Amino acid sequence: MFDLAPVRASLDPIEIASRDEIAGLQLERLRWSLAQAYDNVGHYRRAFDAAGVKPRDLKSLADLRHFPFTTKADLRANYPYGMFAVPRERIARVHASSGTTGKPTVVGYTSRDIETWAEVVARSIRAAGGRPGHRVHVAYGYGLFTGGLGAHYGAERLGCTVIPVSGGMTERQVQLITDFEPDIIMVTPSYMLAILDEFRRAGLDPRGSSLKVGIFGAEPWTESMRREIESQFDMHAVDIYGLSEVMGPGVAQECVETKDGLHIWEDHFYPEVIDPVTGAVLPDGEQGELVFTSLTKEAMPVIRYRTRDLTRLLPGTARSMRRMQKVTGRSDDMMIVRGVNVFPTQVEELILQCEGLSAHFQIELSRTDRMDEMLVRVEAREDRTGAEARAAAAAELGHHVKSRIGISARVEVTLPGEVERSQGKARRVIDKRPQG
Ligand code: DLL
Repeated sequence: MFDLAPVRASLDPIEIASRDEIAGLQLERLRWSLAQAYDNVGHYRRAFDAAGVKPRDLKSLADLRHFPFTTKADLRANYPYGMFAVPRERIARVHASSGTTGKPTVVGYTSRDIETWAEVVARSIRAAGGRPGHRVHVAYGYGLFTGGLGAHYGAERLGCTVIPVSGGMTERQVQLITDFEPDIIMVTPSYMLAILDEFRRAGLDPRGSSLKVGIFGAEPWTESMRREIESQFDMHAVDIYGLSEVMGPGVAQECVETKDGLHIWEDHFYPEVIDPVTGAVLPDGEQGELVFTSLTKEAMPVIRYRTRDLTRLLPGTARSMRRMQKVTGRSDDMMIVRGVNVFPTQVEELILQCEGLSAHFQIELSRTDRMDEMLVRVEAREDRTGAEARAAAAAELGHHVKSRIGISARVEVTLPGEVERSQGKARRVIDKRPQG
């Protein structure tokens, strides 16, 4: 159905360079990046001075651990332009991440940063199977969110025909997919499910669509979700990762021929995984919080930025650059329900193991008499909407949650269409418990 053979000749040589070569480049770039931050950003100068380190103290990559972390709070405290390392006139573009509370986080790019970003996204689309001339439907939102424009510039850079649809207006998404016949779609996995529903509503067979690859990211999604989307659309589903503070989409990408986690574009972004409590750097292979240092960014270098995303680093496979395992969740998404730690992705995995349930779900947390309660609202599949089938599916999921996660949850299996649809990042958890 799709030529999976990687076109090695078309890869950037660094993607398949030796580890020594990659490390050499990283060290050189890391020194530059630390100096770019220290010399031009008041925050980094103060933070490095307080920690008693100077950029020239970095003699090896391992020395990075002596430098201080940067957090979202640091970015907020320097809102809007305080983290920029170049005069404002050299900022070619800003983006911002909305954040759930308070002020947004502002990020800036020089025109060279925009070029770098386009290159890593082009590389990502190619790793996903994209080739020059392919039609790419971009359904990530355009605007302050980095998804739409980031995907757009990358697809253009690769030499694709870009269809810049942005998010929303689901009926029109389906119409345009049908009429323009894209090969590739770039969208959040949860919004892809809404598009799937719309195919069905319009009486169209999603497996008959022109789509061959979906490049899904901006939110956690599971292997079960991959199988679900791949079988419903008869397409490849691969993972793309990124965050505004570090660049946007295209920090890491899964290769279509292996689908075994995401290769981090290590020539631009240096990864570490740390123990989220002690801050100690963990050896590759161990699960912890992902931390990034930018290696080439001019406008807004980030030094040891704590992403709060949980994953582990793995050796390279299809590329020599290291991989990160699919992100299971952010430390912020972790729910603590009666003392048990639960991620929405764990619930997603279990839902998709129940035949009668679709992937549309939300988790509601509440508290009665000081006891946490978890309610999972999930939709029945179109062909399983009878009262008996729904009751059986609810009992099945409740049983799985109890036996695999260890908590009793209430499960409500609704009719199709009753759970809130996402047009971008899905809101999986509604926490109604009193805060504080
Ligand atoms: O979501 C950038 C992006 C756009 C990535 C489109 C991929 C595709 P932010 O809005 O700053 O940027 O949110 C970043 O989203 O720290 C993760 O928690 C989460 N995230 C992004 N990609 C993935 C993924 C964009 N593939 C935050 N898997 C990150 C799991 C992801 N979580």
